[in-house]
Amino acid sequence: MVKLKNLQLGQKFTLLLVLVFLGGVLVSSLALSSVLNRSAQTQLTSKALMLMETMNSIRSYTNDHVNPEIADRLEVEFLPESVPAYSAREVFETFRLNSTYADFFYKEAALNPTNLRDKADNFETALVNQFRRSPDRAREINGFRNTPGGDLFYIARPIQIKEQSCLECHSTPQAAPASMIERYGAANGFGWELNEIVGAQMISVPAEKVFKDARQSLVLILGIFVIAFAIAILLVNLWLKRFVVRPLNRMAQVAEAVSLGDTDAEFVQDTKDEVGQLAEAFNRMRMSLKMAMHRLERYREIRRSSSNNLSQ
Ligand code: HEC
Repeated sequence: MVKLKNLQLGQKFTLLLVLVFLGGVLVSSLALSSVLNRSAQTQLTSKALMLMETMNSIRSYTNDHVNPEIADRLEVEFLPESVPAYSAREVFETFRLNSTYADFFYKEAALNPTNLRDKADNFETALVNQFRRSPDRAREINGFRNTPGGDLFYIARPIQIKEQSCLECHSTPQAAPASMIERYGAANGFGWELNEIVGAQMISVPAEKVFKDARQSLVLILGIFVIAFAIAILLVNLWLKRFVVRPLNRMAQVAEAVSLGDTDAEFVQDTKDEVGQLAEAFNRMRMSLKMAMHRLERYREIRRSSSNNLSQ
């Protein structure tokens, strides 16, 4: 164990600064990473919510504006374009053609879907069941999902059959338009009931890049911190050497010379700081010492000459 007392000034300062530095880096990296993670999470949530609301707007638009316009044609033949679920999904697929958004996903995952591409996988089935168990409470579930393509952040909302009109196409094949059965078959997407939660509306956005960016920011900021501290430690050491250690060493040498009788050895005073004041004080002490020695010398001489006179 190195004793603090035995260390040089520079080493003491370095030790102190390194300790402060390590504590600072530890605390700030914890705080910073929590702030950055929270901001990454907020970023993901806001992205996902915006897309979710966009999809819901498309659904309403299809329902409220497109459907009434083509009502006459729908009597004759069924058009999937008139189905909100279809238009939302198709719009999102177009959106995904942009390679920036290729890893974003939208799905109206149903346990018993009309279109089998909407079939809920195991993960989604668990979410739907969670919504079914607590229909009043859970309006939204979000979280992270591991996929082979990378981590995804998802927001899920329950899809509930709130209108009787839905059952026209989702209750029994007999009730549904014949041309719809022709296209989709009579096996899937029937038997839904009013107020039943039939699926989950899922929006998933890639999370990895956002967290990677957060990690990079953390490394960058900590890097700057480390460099700043390293420069601070270096400068403190240089200054300490230049303005304290070296002048003190010089003073020690001069004091040594003075103590050996060389009262003309001068304490060099370059600065006006505490070290300079010390040198000045030493110089005054040296002068007093010199004068005292001088007086002593003279006194001795007088004594010597008077005793010589007496003996003559
Ligand atoms: C005119 C018939 C029709 C009506 C009315 C209708 N749907 Fe559908 N629904 C469909 C068809 C067809 C699909 C499959 C679309 C596709 O190919 O993506 C579908 C798909 C869905 C899906 C996606 C899961 C799946 O089954 O593929 C949901 C959820 C859904 N409908 C909910 C509703 C709700 C809620 C209502 C009432 C507001 C409603 N539907 C009214 C015909 C209809």
